[in-house]
Amino acid sequence: MIDVLVTRKQREAQGIYSFELTAIGESVMPSFSAGSHIDVHLPNGLVRQYSLCNHPDERHRYQIGVLLDPNSRGGSLCMHEAVSEGTQLRISEPRNLFPLEHEAAYSLLFAGGIGITPILCMAERLANAGKAFELHYCGRSAAGMAFVERLRESGFAASVHLHMDDGEAAQRLNTAQVLADANPTHHVYVCGPTGFMEHVLGTAREQGWQDAQLHREYFAVAQAGAADSASFEVQLASSGRCLQVPADRSVAEVLLDAGVDIPLSCEQGICGTCITRVLEGVPDHRDMFMTEAEHARNDQFTPCCSRAKSARLILDL
Ligand code: FES
Repeated sequence: MIDVLVTRKQREAQGIYSFELTAIGESVMPSFSAGSHIDVHLPNGLVRQYSLCNHPDERHRYQIGVLLDPNSRGGSLCMHEAVSEGTQLRISEPRNLFPLEHEAAYSLLFAGGIGITPILCMAERLANAGKAFELHYCGRSAAGMAFVERLRESGFAASVHLHMDDGEAAQRLNTAQVLADANPTHHVYVCGPTGFMEHVLGTAREQGWQDAQLHREYFAVAQAGAADSASFEVQLASSGRCLQVPADRSVAEVLLDAGVDIPLSCEQGICGTCITRVLEGVPDHRDMFMTEAEHARNDQFTPCCSRAKSARLILDL
């Protein structure tokens, strides 16, 4: 964990603030690679993940961009309203679940809305390394698009294409055209709202791109509703104690209520903090952290969001 001070809070676009964080008592912060995120422990007790968007060579600060989510469960609202210059926060060291493929001959970067944050960092890294790339940044309107000036003033401005929903038809993103060449040495990176990412990745697959060439960032995992969930039982291997998990509650909530300490961070299946070993039973994996192969082993799961396909799970707790 790193204690940081908010040294700058700046409005970047409609509903978006950037925050500059510097370590308290340290002049150098842990290095990070393009695509990394940090956990931010908010004053209201929540923990949220935000992508780093400053140049990955910088060691004196981290920068994040935060969109005020109208459906905020308290994270972005707290960042916007309760965090200001001078606020002290606790953050994790950077982690990267969205790394660049450095061997790529060409990179296609797609950002939708606030998804520009990791993509911006990737563009800086690729430009710095002299790698060929193009960046497509889509937004509803110019007013809601952050960091446009930074992109226009960058040394790679010629590789940046802005696409606004309310702009002229000629500047809209023609995804199929951009992805027409599914060259196996090229890689695609996409970050933004789920619908945007599905559109880009779906189009890429239709054009013959392979999954290994496609990379996406997860901001929030679509939560399955109670309608998709059933109740089941978890058993603690150490004591044999059984706990009922109702359809509308997570395993983590039930465990915490029962006094079982489960480390939690994102609570959305993206960070892996809560991973727990499963000794018996079949989990219904709903996280985005583990790989398909890890899911198939069924020997661990994320109690913050995953459930059970079997009537009971025996947990190594
Ligand atoms: Fe992040 Fe469960 S707390 S995956």
